[in-house]
This record gives sequence, structure tokens and C-alpha cells, in this order.
Amino acid sequence: MYGLIRNLLFRLPPEQAHHIALRSMDVGQRLGLLEKFSPAVAEAPVEVMGLTFPNPVGLAAGLDKNAEHIDALAALGFGFIEVGTVTPLAQPGNPKPRMFRLPEHQAIINRMGFNNEGLDVLLANVRRSRFNGILGINVGKNKVTPAELAESDYRKGIAGVYELASYITVNVSSPNTPGLRDLQFGDSLKRLLEAIKEEQHTQAEVHGRYVPIAVKIAPDMDDTAIRFVADALLETGIDGVIATNTTIEREAVAGHRYADEQGGLSGLPVRAPSVRVIEGLHASLGERVPIIGVGGIADGESAAEKIRAGARLVQLYTGFIYRGPSLIGEAVEGVRAAMR
Ligand code: FNR
Repeated sequence: MYGLIRNLLFRLPPEQAHHIALRSMDVGQRLGLLEKFSPAVAEAPVEVMGLTFPNPVGLAAGLDKNAEHIDALAALGFGFIEVGTVTPLAQPGNPKPRMFRLPEHQAIINRMGFNNEGLDVLLANVRRSRFNGILGINVGKNKVTPAELAESDYRKGIAGVYELASYITVNVSSPNTPGLRDLQFGDSLKRLLEAIKEEQHTQAEVHGRYVPIAVKIAPDMDDTAIRFVADALLETGIDGVIATNTTIEREAVAGHRYADEQGGLSGLPVRAPSVRVIEGLHASLGERVPIIGVGGIADGESAAEKIRAGARLVQLYTGFIYRGPSLIGEAVEGVRAAMR
């Protein structure tokens, strides 16, 4: 069934297909069709970051940037949903075209550039949804905010979403906001993580509730940088790490007509690099800081591989576009098999 729908959607430009698919899902959900016709997903509760997830397979950030489709996505059976990246102020993102399909590689290249309607709109959308499952809200910085003031944007994001988020993700790994990824290294990372913890502490006092914070990192890191991130997470007491975002590497898709498009590459080509980062993180972190594995999951086995590398939860994006909702249940089965 999804194969048929996909054939139609893939005739349209990617962004248009994306909007049509999500809007149709909203309608299907309101009519009660989505839940009825979605493939069953097994219950497989796991506890991570102090939260109980009904199953370990979530939706990765970037698909529902403004939190407009939470109820429909939840009806498909995801164990958790991460919305965003949201920036304090609305911004248009990069000029179109900014998303490219590479079906030969089960991959996507995107340079969306955090197009989103800003914090206030996202919060209103979350309030309007009926979802009461686990909601991650992913925060980033506005393009116009200079690097020296990045910390202030993250603080605004954390303070803004604190009340409504089950967990918060701090995104320092998008390749499409100039300078953002520099925040993953050295003193910049340590200073940022300290500021994040301070903001979390303040908000926990205000709201009387502790909301865990995870940091999302890129796959383009050598072993030393991975170890540095792990040490910084341990030192500052960050609650989780999401590995990984998209890659700026192109080796795996060399020669493809879109290979030279700027942006982040996702899907199958990022599967192995993301596993390598998870393994590296796990070697340093052990079970002290949970890892959420994401990158190139396209079946049960690629989900299981993330768990074997040390992840406790997984997320889907590109595989979900190519495979459709049946991937959720398959990934749950893969994770369960790997945990046995
Ligand atoms: C993304 N991703 C992403 N990540 C993030 O933290 N904030 C974001 O706004 C976005 N936006 C976004 C847009 C598009 C079009 C894609 C394809 C991806 C990254 C995504 O969440 C995930 O980390 C990577 O895509 C790797 O996983 P997959 O896609 O290989 O399963």
C-alpha cells in the first residue's frame, strides 16, 4: 500500500510531497482511519532518562518542525516523537530547492536551514494536540544570532519549551546553520553544556519538574572528538546524547547527480558512520549517559545494530520516508531481538 502512495508522492518535488503526505495523514487521523489501517506495533516499554517509553522507536527531529502533525504521527505507533528544530524566532530557511532524493542510495540531501515558525507557534501547536505520550522538543539557534550569542538562543529555547516537553534536545549538529557545528568541540562545547545545565536547573525550580536534556551530535567526528564529547557530557551531567545528525561526507554517493548539493546527507550512507559514533560514545559512557541511535535505519536489522552498538532508543527519518509506517513495527522487533 505505501509503495503505491510513495510512487505517486515521489513524482512531486520532495518538499511538496512532504506537505501533502503529512496533511493527508492529519485528515486520516481525524477520520480515525490512520489508527485502523496502520500496521500493529508491539508494546515494548523501556525506561530511559527517567521516562517510560511505550516502545523504543521514535520519530527523529526535522519531519515535524512546527509540531503540526503530532497526533497523526503518534497514531502510526511511534514510541516517541521529536518535533523541531525550533528557533526562538521564525525564519524562512534556505532558498528552494533545498531537499533532494537519492533513491539509488536510499538517501536524502537537505539544506533546509531550520525553516520554522518560531517558538510561540510551536508551543501553540503542541498545546492544541491531544498527544499525551513522550514528546521531545528539539531546539536550535536562529541564523541571524551571532555565534557568541548562541548560548542565549538555546537558553530561550529550553526555557520556552520546558513546560511542554518530556525531554529537550539541544541541536548543535545541523550542517545548514553556519558555525553551528563548531559548538560540538573544545571549550565552546563545555561552556554551552554548562549553560544548558544551568538553564535546566533554573527551569526545574520554576516548574517543579526535572526535564531531561539530550545533545544531538554529528557523525563527522574522529575518535578524539567523540571521546571529548563523552567526557564533556559526563562532566556536565547531560542526560542523553542523540547520535547522529546528517553527514557532510559524500564518499558513499560519489558520482550521483546530487552528490555535490550542499547540505546534510541522511539515510543508508549515514548508517555505518552513525554506528561508529555510537560505539565510540558507548566505550566512554557505558550506561551512564543513554544514547539514542539515529541514522540510516531502514529495517529491523539496522535498528538492532544501533542497540548492539550501545544505543537504548532509536529514531527514524529517511528510512520512514522510503519505507513508510511499516518500518516502525519492524524496527521495534529488531530492537527487541537485539535486547534479548
Ligand atoms: C533532518 N534532520 C534534522 N535533525 C535535527 O536535529 N533538526 C532538524 O531540524 C532536522 N531536519 C532534517 C530535515 C531533513 C529533510 C532530514 C532528512 C533530516 C536529521 C534527522 O533527524 C536525522 O538525525 C538524520 O536524518 C539521520 O537519520 P536518518 O534520516 O538517516 O534516519
